[in-house]
Amino acid sequence: MNNRKIIKGRVLSFSENPFKHYFNFNSLLLDNKHIYVNNGLIEGIGDTPNLNPAYDNAERIDHGDHVITAGFVDAHVHYPQTAIIASWGKRLIDWLNTYTFPEEMRFGDPTYAAEIAERYVEFALHNGTTSMASYCTIHPESVEAFFTAAADRNMCVVAGKTCMDRNAPDGLRDSAKSAYDDSKALIERWQSKGRAHYAIAPRFSPTSTPEQLEALGALWAEHPECLMQTHLSEQTDEIAWVRELFPNARDYLDTYETFGLLGERGLYGHAIHLEPREMDRLAEVGASVVHCPTSNTFIGSGLFNTAGMMAREINVGVATDTGGGSSFSMLRTMAATYEIAQLRGVALHPAQLLWLATCGSARALHLDNQIGNIASGMAADMVVLDLASTPAIAQRSARAEDIWEEIFPTIMMGDDRAIAATYVAGQRV
Ligand code: GUN
Ligand code: ZN
Repeated sequence: MNNRKIIKGRVLSFSENPFKHYFNFNSLLLDNKHIYVNNGLIEGIGDTPNLNPAYDNAERIDHGDHVITAGFVDAHVHYPQTAIIASWGKRLIDWLNTYTFPEEMRFGDPTYAAEIAERYVEFALHNGTTSMASYCTIHPESVEAFFTAAADRNMCVVAGKTCMDRNAPDGLRDSAKSAYDDSKALIERWQSKGRAHYAIAPRFSPTSTPEQLEALGALWAEHPECLMQTHLSEQTDEIAWVRELFPNARDYLDTYETFGLLGERGLYGHAIHLEPREMDRLAEVGASVVHCPTSNTFIGSGLFNTAGMMAREINVGVATDTGGGSSFSMLRTMAATYEIAQLRGVALHPAQLLWLATCGSARALHLDNQIGNIASGMAADMVVLDLASTPAIAQRSARAEDIWEEIFPTIMMGDDRAIAATYVAGQRV
């Protein structure tokens, strides 16, 4: 069977990081191009309808003047919080205790876990998100459900069991030993199976004993191929609590570093209120931080310093943080990234916002050799954007004098109606 396709549209492909100071935004043209897809991979991008005779009978899809970018990469979500998104009135610790933990208790039931995993993955794809790094719950069943839902759709995903052995309700705690054993068994079952990638996940230092952090640090040392994801310095009350729980730690990051949980393949969610030493260490080890802008405003956490992180060459991903975040949409997430940077005195360029939601997040997950850009050899995970998806957006983009002015209203005002198509490994979903 011929699995080849030629997909045409205005293609956005990054050859460089638009946060580099010499970057010329005018060099990023969105031309009418043909994307040659073979067996789920991009084989080339060109001006002509045929790459070689093998494409003579290929399926041809023309997206007209819609923009084709890499599928969005959501670098930090909690799929089990799908059904409690937009829960009112609490700050972080109260929000966890009131809404999150009771909901997460339900994921020991594989039927419920599968139902929510399916629901979440469909919401993500509708919003053009083709990959994500998701927390699960303490239950191995929740991990199984998520990787299964993703594998059924051939999606490249990162996930892992969330570990907590203190400061969580009865029924939602594991132990140092069971967190180690269950995580290890899940790594053996899922790491690099198809497009699945495992992230070891101590939830955050307040919900792990030093013994659990140590056990998970040892597990990471045994499985350096895995990512490690956790939360860091999200709210000031949380930081004060960490100081009480770990009186000998130099700072919040040190509670991870001491136990072998700081490394290049580490992903630190939120990372808002950092000390200079923490910034230095993140930069030195080449770790990644994940900006969760709609969550940071919704839960009232603070203003992440995107430009400061980029200036220090710390890897930054962006994320919805569903359901602390208030949207499943990476367009909405880019808009909030722009707004928060504005509150810090920086206007991010639309190309920088799109880069963060694709290449930047993919690089944070160490998957930028496979996803996050439209280029030869990458997976054909793509999103097709309609830049006139509502009358309000259409009337603004019609006045645009260049492509970036045409795209920006969709970033700021767009939602799932702007997603004209989503492709996963070359298949339209
Ligand atoms: N810190 C620890 N757990 C969580 C969570 O589930 N959501 C957010 N936003 N922060 C956290
Ligand atoms: Zn989170």
